[in-house]
Order: sequence, then C-alpha cells, then structure tokens
Amino acid sequence: MFTRAESLPPHFNLLAITPQLFALERTRDWQAAALTCALSYEGLQASIAQAETEYGKKLVVPGYPFAGFTASGEQVLEWAHKLTDSVEELKHIFAASRKKAAVGFLIDRRSVSPKRLGLPGPQIEDIDLMTEAALAAPDHGNLHPWRLLTFAPHQRQALARLFMEEKLRRDPLASRADIDRAMEHATRSPVLLAFIVSLQERKNIPFREQWLCAGAAIGNFLNAAHQLGFGGILLSGDRCFDPLLKEALGVGHHEFLAGFISLGSIAMAPPPRRKPPAQRMRSQWESVFPNADVPVPVSGAAEVVSKGTGNPA
Ligand SMILES: Cc1cc2nc3c(=O)[nH]c(=O)nc-3n(C[C@H](O)[C@H](O)[C@H](O)COP(=O)(O)O)c2cc1C
Repeated sequence: MFTRAESLPPHFNLLAITPQLFALERTRDWQAAALTCALSYEGLQASIAQAETEYGKKLVVPGYPFAGFTASGEQVLEWAHKLTDSVEELKHIFAASRKKAAVGFLIDRRSVSPKRLGLPGPQIEDIDLMTEAALAAPDHGNLHPWRLLTFAPHQRQALARLFMEEKLRRDPLASRADIDRAMEHATRSPVLLAFIVSLQERKNIPFREQWLCAGAAIGNFLNAAHQLGFGGILLSGDRCFDPLLKEALGVGHHEFLAGFISLGSIAMAPPPRRKPPAQRMRSQWESVFPNADVPVPVSGAAEVVSKGTGNPA
C-alpha cells in the first residue's frame, strides 16, 4: 500500500509528474515522451527538473539520449505505479457503487402485504404514473395485453360482498373468520386494483409471449409504486378463477383475472427477502465444436437473418 507520509517529501507533487515519468518509462526516448505528453522536449526537461528540485534528488540520469532513471527515479516510478493503481481501484469502487445506486430501487423492492399498508394511498395521478411505467415494459407488438380495474372507495363494500359470496361458493362451510378474511381483502388496503390479462389473437405473437409482456407490465407497475414511496403487492388466489366473480367484475370470457394489486403507504416495513446470488441465475453456453474458431457459413447466416421477424426500429 502506498503511504505518502513515510517516504515522499511534503512538497513533491507525485501526481503532477506521473504522466511524464510514465511516458519516459514507456518510450525510453525524450522526444517521443515529450510528444506523448503534448510537450516540447524543453518543456519535458523543465518539468522533470522541477520534480527533481521538489524531490531533492535526480530522478533521470542526466544527458541525451535518454539514459534511464536513477535509483531515486526508479523508486518514485514504483510509487507512481502504486498511486495510479490505487486511484484506478478507487474509480472502480466508485463506479460499482454508482451503478448499484442506479438500480438500487429495483434491488430493494419488496412486496408489501395489505396488513402492512396504511393511509395515505396513492392518488389517481400516482396510479397513472405507475400505469405509464407498466406501459413502458417490453411488449412484443405493442399489444399491451392487459388492463386495470379500479375500485372507488364507496364500491369497496360491494366488492367485499362479492368476495364473501365467492368464498361461500368455494367453501359453503367456511368459518366466520375465513369469510371476514376474504372480505377484508377487498377493504383493507387504501387502494385496490384488479389486473386483468387480455390476450389478443395475433399470428406472430403467441399467447405465451403476451403473458410474459403482461408479467413485465406488473413488474414495472410495482417497481414504480415502490419508487414513488408506496408499498404494493399482487395477490391472486382461488377467487381469480371464479366465473361468477369474473363476470361481476366485467372480465370477459377471453380475459384472465390475474390478481388484485393492493397499494398504500408502508406502515410496517416487510422483512428483507432472501435472494440467490445473481451469478447463480446464469450459466455459460459451451459450443460442441472443439475449435472456437469455427468458420461461419456466410450465405447460410444471411438466409437465417432474412427469415427473421425483423428488428425493431
Ligand atoms: C401473478 C402473481 C400472483 C400472486 N399471487 C399470490 C397469492 O395469491 N398469494 C400470495 O401470498 N402471494 C402471491 N404472489 C406473490 C406476491 O405478490 C409476492 O411477489 C411474493 O410474496 C414475494 O414477495 P416479493 O415481491 O417481496 O419478493 C403472487 C405473485 C404474482 C406475480
């Protein structure tokens, strides 16, 4: 580790002379080094002379052509390398933490269960922003195969009744506590939305891709809620498959009730989530060809490209 206090004279500006020393080390030629540093030969000589005065010893063997560094010069060069390496390492550390900060809100997002949510809930403008984020999710064909259903505060009891009826259809012997829990899901969180997947018949965009797009939209929606400072969660459950509830909510036969999104302020923070390390989520493909430099059949490759569905604009 480089420690300036131990070895360098206090007025010696190591950082200032480092580029010139490195240029001389690399080229071992006064003229070429001067060119590298955008200096004249005299300018380079003057800056070395100034560094030698600051240091109190000769750094470069006097004379022309360049005859190498003195023992002190070699020592200073070694310090310069250590200093540069440390600066590079610090730059790396800062860059890595800047990058992590940039995606930090995505890494930190957690679902927040309705019992941890409180007032105030998001306003309609906030929900519009979340929806804009959802609309920005990757979407093959720009189909946006989903829609949101909002529930006005004065409709939440009516929704709770629908949840109760659905619970009783599924479990006619449900206990009072179970029924209350089902109804509570309709009323508990400050804001509740239904997320409906609305697939569209398209020749080139199979349903499985539309499901992926809808999932990406949910992800963006919840990320936006988190970034706006709200807690949110998507919960599905058996009720989402109930034909009568779906009908009462106006979910068409061709549509799917994916779940209900609860939103609100975070009254109680959720515990941190255990996630696998990112590296465990990837593996590297190895070609079966023993030689990595397999020639690519150019005409064949061109044919494959021309058969593709085309690149986005
Ligand atoms: C489509 C979908 C449906 C879900 N349905 C339920 C559900 O019915 N019950 C439940 O406990 N969690 C459900 N979850 C999971 C929660 O929304 C949440 O993602 C999970 O608790 C993990 O929390 P995290 O988002 O903080 O990692 C569902 C998630 C998705 C994406």
